[in-house]
Amino acid sequence: MTYVIGMISQKGGVGKSTLARMMAREFVAGGLTAKIADLDTQQQTSTYWAGRRAEAGLEPEVQVQSFASVASAIADAPRFDAMILDGKPNASTQTLEIAQAADLCVIPTGPTVDDLHPGVVLAHGLRKKGVGAIVFAMVKTTASERETEAARAYLTQAGYDVLSGEIPVSTAYGQAGDVGRTITETSFRTLNARATMLAQSIIDRVADIQEVA
Ligand SMILES: Nc1ncnc2c1ncn2[C@@H]1O[C@H](COP(=O)(O)OP(=O)(O)O)[C@@H](O)[C@H]1O
Ligand SMILES: [Mg+2]
Repeated sequence: MTYVIGMISQKGGVGKSTLARMMAREFVAGGLTAKIADLDTQQQTSTYWAGRRAEAGLEPEVQVQSFASVASAIADAPRFDAMILDGKPNASTQTLEIAQAADLCVIPTGPTVDDLHPGVVLAHGLRKKGVGAIVFAMVKTTASERETEAARAYLTQAGYDVLSGEIPVSTAYGQAGDVGRTITETSFRTLNARATMLAQSIIDRVADIQEVA
């Protein structure tokens, strides 16, 4: 069975591609095969990133392919242990297709209501359409633990699970992407450890879901 993970959001620039790249890298580093399906055909963020990674000669190699449709990505999925669907910047009909195809949907969100509210609206909409496995990932958090806790409480009260671990705002994370690295591969051990913790909680989730299925 292939783990299919969908990275989706209502807003653009929240961290879908960042988390997609991290997940693919962590699966491969853990000895599984993985591919990112870059469904953002306009920007192809992950595809270009893979080019930078290959250019830099970084190991492990992370496979990224641009797909025009969710269906074609899913058709390719059985060849891999994990397929990560990296969606378009904003919610669209594609978002629902990703959500319906994925074992687990991850919605990255920042800690402010500006980010949280549209994420919850998206999740509610998907739930109404029968999508069950939705989790939120806290990204671009600040040094204010209170803010992060309030954000977690907001999501929990809205009826959603929030992954343990979070990704704080850091230029080192952004720079890692610039040179083809993932957020688990920065020059800072503590930042890598924080990202690894979030990756592990996504892996645990998707493994649990498949065990039950
Ligand atoms: N924790 C972080 N700290 C700083 N910059 C970040 C962080 N996470 C993501 N970014 C940057 O934010 C931008 C948008 O992230 P991206 O993953 O491309 O979002 P999306 O795919 O949802 O549009 C990118 O430039 C990325 O490098
Ligand atoms: Mg993206």
